[in-house]
Amino acid sequence: MRKKMLLLVATILLSGSANAAQDTRQQIKMPEMMRDHLLALHEIQAALAAGKLDQAAEIAEQRIGMSSLTKHNASHMAPYMPAAMQAIGTEMHHAASRFARSAHEGDLKKALTDLSGITQQCVACHAGYRVQ
Ligand code: HEC
Repeated sequence: MRKKMLLLVATILLSGSANAAQDTRQQIKMPEMMRDHLLALHEIQAALAAGKLDQAAEIAEQRIGMSSLTKHNASHMAPYMPAAMQAIGTEMHHAASRFARSAHEGDLKKALTDLSGITQQCVACHAGYRVQ
């Protein structure tokens, strides 16, 4: 009985690792990317509070804005998202680039309004979609 159990466990473990070895699918690093978005928002707010608007603009553009698209491999990810979800993602990238422009211009009030335009898209997507 115990021997049978051990054999069963070993078989499950072995077949598990064999499957993992053959799995050539591309892994999408969505949670990692998301955590960096959150970190970027935090850094943006800290920079704004310190009066470093240019720095805030740079973080937004490079990490969330249109300039971040190639880094995130967006063209590989987009086909796996429903169209409406893709649209929210695209709007988020545009909003971040809009924020970057107003922060560069030194207009704090406009920058804050545009910052909420970014978080609005985070909230919209999280309210509608999940991965598991
Ligand atoms: C186009 C859709 C979309 C947008 C836009 C989006 N997210 Fe997400 N995010 C997701 C999905 C889907 C998950 C997985 C959530 C789940 O399954 O419950 C997620 C998860 C997360 C997580 C959890 C990561 C983890 O470790 O599990 C964080 C943090 C996060 N998002 C931050 C943000 C921030 C900040 C923004 C805006 C700057 C943002 N996201 C914009 C879709 C999006």
